[in-house]
Amino acid sequence: MLSHLLHLSGIESVVLEARSRQYLEDRFRAGVLEQSSVDLLMSTGLGARLQQLGLVRHGIHFNFAGARHRIDFDDLTPGRCITVYGQQEVVKDLIQARVNAGGDIRFEVSDVSLHGIDTAAPAIHFCDSSGNVKTLTCDFIAGCDGTHGVSRASIPATVLQIFERAFPFAWLAILSETPSTSEEPVYSYHERGFALYNMRTPRITRLYLQCKPDEDLAEWSDDRIWEELCIRHGTRDGWIPATGPILQKGITGMRSFVAEPMQYGKLFLAGDAAHIVPPTGAKGMNLAIADVRVLARALEQYYASGRTDWLDRYSATCLRRVWKVQRFAWWMTSTLHRFNGGNGFDHRRQLAELDYVTGSRAASMSLAENYVGLPLEG
Ligand code: PHB
Repeated sequence: MLSHLLHLSGIESVVLEARSRQYLEDRFRAGVLEQSSVDLLMSTGLGARLQQLGLVRHGIHFNFAGARHRIDFDDLTPGRCITVYGQQEVVKDLIQARVNAGGDIRFEVSDVSLHGIDTAAPAIHFCDSSGNVKTLTCDFIAGCDGTHGVSRASIPATVLQIFERAFPFAWLAILSETPSTSEEPVYSYHERGFALYNMRTPRITRLYLQCKPDEDLAEWSDDRIWEELCIRHGTRDGWIPATGPILQKGITGMRSFVAEPMQYGKLFLAGDAAHIVPPTGAKGMNLAIADVRVLARALEQYYASGRTDWLDRYSATCLRRVWKVQRFAWWMTSTLHRFNGGNGFDHRRQLAELDYVTGSRAASMSLAENYVGLPLEG
C-alpha cells in the first residue's frame, strides 16, 4: 500500500518480500475493512474488485444471555459502515496494481539486514530469490515486515519501549463452504466462551471459537466444532449458523503489543512491525493502512519541499490512533471472552457491559464509531 501511495506521488520505492506472490495471495486472514480503508483503496484506483466482490455491511450483532442485538451503523454512524473483503484480496489488488505500474517488488528474498539506519545513507543487504547477495541504498526504509521481521529488531533495544498484554486464550478458526445464515457479523458471548460468525462470500463462511492457547486441533472433529458453535451462538430467536463442510482449520493467537517510538533515524515502522492487536474487531490491516497513509504523506512533503516536520511527527501521529485502536480491540476482547473459566462477578459485569452497549444510544454510538473505524487524521 505504501509503495502504491508513493508511486502515485512520483516517489520511487522497492518492495522486498520474503514470501512468494502465490503464498501471499492464498494466505487466509481477517476480512473486515473500515470505512477509511475502503475510501483510501477506492480513491487510489484500487476499487474495481473491491466494489464488485466486497460485501457492504450496515450492522453487526451481539448475542448474549439468549438474545440477539443489532448495532445499526446507518443510524449510529451515518455514511460510515464496513466492507467484508478478505485481506488476501486486498493484497492481490495491491500486487497487481504495482505490477501493472511497473513497480519493483522482489519476492522470496532472504537474509535481509539493515545498515546505517541512523546515518544519511541507509542500506539493505539481502539475497534475491536466486541466492545472489544484493545491496540496496536508499533515503528511507519502511519496516513493514511484521512482528517477526528484521526492522524492529534493528533498532537498539535501549531506544524502544515495549508495551504488551497476553490473553489466556486463542481462537479456533474455520473456513466453511456453507450458505450464510447471517449477512452481518455475529459476536457471541456465552458461558462456554466467545464465538464469532462472519461470511466471506454468499457460499463461504468464516467462524471462530474461543479455545485454549495450546488447544490440540486433533481433538476438534468437525462435528464437535459445529456443535460448540451452535451452542455458543444460540439465542431464543432460533438463529444458529448453518453447518457444512469445513475447508480449513487453524489456531489464531491473541496478543496486544506496541513498540514506541515507531521511528529510529531513517527507519519507519508500520503495521505489525510496530504493533499487534488481538483479532476481535478485525483492526490489524486497517491500522497498518492508516500508518502507511501517514508515512506516505510525510514522505510526499519531504520530497516536495524538503520539510521533515511531518516525518518527525510520524510516530506520535500514528501512536495516537494505535492506542485508541488498542483500547477498542482490548475492550472487545475482554468483554466477549471468558477469562480462565471466569468468576461470577466478571460474568455478570460482562453481561452488564453488553446490555449497556446494546441498550444505550450513547454507548452503541461509541461502539459503532470505533467498529466502522475512526476517521483518518490530517
Ligand atoms: C473475519 O471475518 O475474519 C473477522 C471478522 C471480525 C473479526 C475478526 C475476524 O472481529
